[in-house]
Amino acid sequence: MHTYHSPLDLVRERSPERPVALVRPDAVALAARWFQSNFKGDVLYAVKANPSPWVIKALAENGITNFDVASLPEIELVAEHAPGARMAFMHPVKSRAAISAAYFDHGVRTFSFDTHEELAKILDATGKARDLNLMVRLAVQADGSSYPLAGKFGVEAHDAPALLLAARRATQDLMGVAFHVGSQCMRPTAYQAAMAQASRALVRAGVFADVVDVGGGFPSVYPGMVPPALTDYIDSIDRGFAEMMVHETTELWCEPGRALVAESSSVLAKVELRKGDALYLNDGSYGSLFDATHSKWPFPVKLVRDGAPSVAALKPFRFYGPTCDSIDHMPGPFWLPEDVGEGDYVEIGMLGAYGVAMTTRFNGYGDLDVAEVEDAPMASTYGLAPRSIATPRLEAATVVKLSRARSKKRRRR
Ligand SMILES: Cc1ncc(COP(=O)(O)O)c(C=O)c1O
Repeated sequence: MHTYHSPLDLVRERSPERPVALVRPDAVALAARWFQSNFKGDVLYAVKANPSPWVIKALAENGITNFDVASLPEIELVAEHAPGARMAFMHPVKSRAAISAAYFDHGVRTFSFDTHEELAKILDATGKARDLNLMVRLAVQADGSSYPLAGKFGVEAHDAPALLLAARRATQDLMGVAFHVGSQCMRPTAYQAAMAQASRALVRAGVFADVVDVGGGFPSVYPGMVPPALTDYIDSIDRGFAEMMVHETTELWCEPGRALVAESSSVLAKVELRKGDALYLNDGSYGSLFDATHSKWPFPVKLVRDGAPSVAALKPFRFYGPTCDSIDHMPGPFWLPEDVGEGDYVEIGMLGAYGVAMTTRFNGYGDLDVAEVEDAPMASTYGLAPRSIATPRLEAATVVKLSRARSKKRRRR
């Protein structure tokens, strides 16, 4: 991978035709070290957040050798780039073939599930193995998160005790509880509350857990979202763990995705056309900007122009991606100098988590080059850059309110 001092140097040298993922392995290294020094248990990286080989390698080189994987391709990826790493298959619904390959070919022993049927499937596909670590995924409150994951997975409180008991009986190794408070969780106390819920389920089942896995959810910085300090999350987990009915040897695990990688990557996209306040880019919602479309997150942006830097005032823009689908629209607002136009490059920040990971090949787009850069990310929870992203306010005068003409029928009344 080639290294450039800054995104501007890359533009000057290469004028890239394809979008480029600008990666900062040092930011991943710092986040990895932070979690290991502050979290009082095992840190498993949730590979789904960013499965790039350079991420897996940077984490492994910085002491993270446990990985939360959700599929066989993720298992194969970790096996290739972090040989000897321990993996936990934490997707609550898996195919029999994937379970067997994980157990027999890759030595995976930890599996999660939220139904009796999936537990039976795991036992069956591993030849009734007795050396499994069985993790019951619980449904917990997730109202502090900006990206709730509730609804799809997790056994509800009334059904949890029976499943916990079945798991306890099915293994001679570890039995644990796992949950996810929702991604980009803005409320640290959500962890303590979820742990209290887990504790109640364990007491009702009359079993002790060998592992308490608090999942992911640790936040990063985005425009309009400045999370509390990460130490507040650690404090909440410590309090929650102290209050739980567990034994002395119970292990604490977490599975951060976003917080380990979000600030480590941005994407350099080229402006192919400008129509008024709309910029047509060579990356979009079928590329690395899924959340800019579907969650309307206005990621931070910077103009990268080869030539005299712009001195024009900032103006709000919206983006369109390169595909022919009209969903491929990112409303923003993205603040850029008002003279931005075709041929300019835009760096879109904070795309290390669920950004580059989301790229598809729709319409023949989606190829992303990768280059390392040495400058700081646009924001940081670890002190590499400011902890917040300044967003200019839309002035009242520039906001055009469209009101519907009232129907004739109504007017007559
Ligand atoms: C089981 C599991 N663990 C961990 C994560 C990572 O979550 P986050 O990126 O919010 O830390 C996810 C995300 O979907 C998940 O499903």
